[in-house]
Amino acid sequence: MKIFLDTADVDEIRRAADAGLIDGVTTNPSLLAKVAGDRDPKEIILEICEAVDGPVSAEVVALDADTMVSEGKRLAGLHDNIVVKVPLTEDGLRACRRLRSDGVRVNVTLCFSVTQAHLAAKAGATYISPFVGRIDDISGDGMDLIVQIRQVYDNYSIETEILAASLRHPQHVVQALLMGADCGTLPAKVLYQLLKHPLTDLGLEQFLADWRSLGADL
Ligand code: G3P
Repeated sequence: MKIFLDTADVDEIRRAADAGLIDGVTTNPSLLAKVAGDRDPKEIILEICEAVDGPVSAEVVALDADTMVSEGKRLAGLHDNIVVKVPLTEDGLRACRRLRSDGVRVNVTLCFSVTQAHLAAKAGATYISPFVGRIDDISGDGMDLIVQIRQVYDNYSIETEILAASLRHPQHVVQALLMGADCGTLPAKVLYQLLKHPLTDLGLEQFLADWRSLGADL
């Protein structure tokens, strides 16, 4: 499963990318608003593209298809890594079709049902982003949506990649792996939770103490 970092924080992205832990980045207007201050968000998106060797999702903010397409083309023109994010609305799917026919990769975001995911695939989406955590937030079963989309996409040999989004904790990631999501996007906190294990720390401490007792150099 490809791991994307769900952030617009360039330092976090550089750290994870330098360690080879991530395959790409997803941003959205809320994540950009957290870090931008008085900077132009397009500058930040460009910096992110230069920090990671992989897809970087950047979202349009218009509601009508024509403006989404022109915003999408402007975003795609910033850097080859850009994947244009459009919302799962009628206009979003129109824009998706048009951007795809111009060779722009599209991530259809804000997906909350299997029927939406099916329509996005028919519009040629490169990625579909079901928001697992936000479904859990309203007492639904976010992971069940991943299972259903996987099944439907496999039934019809659909190539749109399932990008499990709004993953909030390591168990979400475990489930996404088991359900066969193609990609998962998660905040830095969750990424490092995936890596850390108390038995690794304890074992390492013991090995180093035993080595010190040998009084030798390596
Ligand atoms: O990038 C979109 C998605 O991952 C948002 O997550 O935690 O704001 O629901 P969250």
